[in-house]
Amino acid sequence: MDKFLEVGVVESDPAMAPVPDERFFEEILLHLQQTRGFEFAAYKPASLKRRLLKRMQVVGVSTFEGYLDLLQVRQEEFAELFNSILINVTSFFRDPEVWDHMAAVVIPELVQAADDGEIRIWSAGCASGQEPFTLAILLAEAIGAARLRERVKIYATDADDHALTVARLATYSPRQVSDIPDALLRKYFEPAGGDYALQRDLRRTVVFGRHDLLQDAPISRVDLLVCRNTLMYFNADTQGRTLARFYLSLKPGGYLLLGRAEMLFSHGAMFTPVDLKRRLFRPVAKPDHRARLLLLAQTGRVTFNEITEQRALQGELLQLKHELETAYEELETTNEELQSTVEELEATNEELQSTNEELETMNEELQSANQELQSTNEELRARSIDLNQANTFLESVFASVRSAVVIVNRDSRVLVWNDRAADLWGVRSQEAEGRNLLDLDAGLPLPQVREHLRELLDGTREAGDLMVSATSRRGTAVDCRLRMTPLRHPGNEIAGVILLVEEQVGAQQP
Ligand SMILES: C[S@@+](CC[C@H](N)C(=O)[O-])C[C@H]1O[C@@H](n2cnc3c(N)ncnc32)[C@H](O)[C@@H]1O
Repeated sequence: MDKFLEVGVVESDPAMAPVPDERFFEEILLHLQQTRGFEFAAYKPASLKRRLLKRMQVVGVSTFEGYLDLLQVRQEEFAELFNSILINVTSFFRDPEVWDHMAAVVIPELVQAADDGEIRIWSAGCASGQEPFTLAILLAEAIGAARLRERVKIYATDADDHALTVARLATYSPRQVSDIPDALLRKYFEPAGGDYALQRDLRRTVVFGRHDLLQDAPISRVDLLVCRNTLMYFNADTQGRTLARFYLSLKPGGYLLLGRAEMLFSHGAMFTPVDLKRRLFRPVAKPDHRARLLLLAQTGRVTFNEITEQRALQGELLQLKHELETAYEELETTNEELQSTVEELEATNEELQSTNEELETMNEELQSANQELQSTNEELRARSIDLNQANTFLESVFASVRSAVVIVNRDSRVLVWNDRAADLWGVRSQEAEGRNLLDLDAGLPLPQVREHLRELLDGTREAGDLMVSATSRRGTAVDCRLRMTPLRHPGNEIAGVILLVEEQVGAQQP
């Protein structure tokens, strides 16, 4: 089954047979004509449907009805659809054998016929500019870049504004210029940040403009009209109308160059082949022709009066040729669509590659951050071992000292309380550490000690001894020597006080 029919069915009511969605396809075309003024009905329906379905697949809509709804509510959708329908596939020197012939025969002939006068060229459906710039390069080769600007005007038109914006920049990627012969690339392009920019003089020979072949007036007095791979998207009626306009646009004796699939079998009344293989035509010179075609340009139909038997046979032949032409064009449009899909896939691939590269660099960065963290971690572990050793050492120092050792901070909170202090005052180090020394029931004469501590912390007293009478854990009175020394930070500010308590021999009983 045709892909279109497959998705073009709406199963609205299970009791009813599926209704083909075809009506909504027509409604989409009507909606676009009314709201955007673009005549998509003039294009070949098969190709149009394929492009529409492709877009629908991207936005995840499965019926034409659903897509019509989307077009009505989402304003930006039109531009995306327009882009998808107007296939912009193109390249420099596309079909090289045609351009060889143009350079060797047609262009020298045009130059000679113009006899120092102006040469007017129209590239219709120019996409992103490669075709008109190919023409500019060949003309520069023929008459020199300096005379090119004085003598040659190349009008390059397209219905697609986005493609024209790209064309006006005249800057192309290495892949896009890969079809230009090396010598010409070096001669007419300048490097531009990894890309290639066409020289200004050549660029200025080409005048870009938005022009819809279906409704805008043709450019007049043209010597060479190049319209390749564009007509083949139009239906037969529209092709007729467009060709009639081309006929009016060309000077008598001018040239029409079409694309590989475009043969004009059914338009022999207007154009005669000069070189059919290369799709090169000339307008037929007949005195009454212009007026007749001015009718045709509007309706798209030709009338034939004399139909003899021979004519009838000719007609059949023409019909067959026409069918052949249509089949060939159909094949070629499918081909272009495939090429455009390949280009899109290539672009997606490039995007994926660059995302991949970004991920790779992020990965590298993460790995290096990880390594840094690991070394910081190792440093911390080593320091922690040092610290533990220092602590153990200090603890053993405090345990080995024969005196009771008490260290308090500036708030008089106990930082160190050694075993001898516990033994003397009956308060364990776990109970004492962290608490205010003056709150501990340790048998010390508090007012005396408090006063001394305050003065040492204020810096109004130097280190010195204090003799006190205290009460031991057994309730016995003991005379003690309190050696009180300020604890200083490396910057010399006072951080607390160290108290060494020595029991005096000959303690009195209470
Ligand atoms: C496949 S490209 C051909 C480009 C170039 N001529 C070549 O052969 O390499 C067809 C171009 O026709 C343009 N086009 C389609 N419909 C048009 C219309 N109604 N008026 C003007 N240009 C149209 C598209 O936007 C697209 O850029």
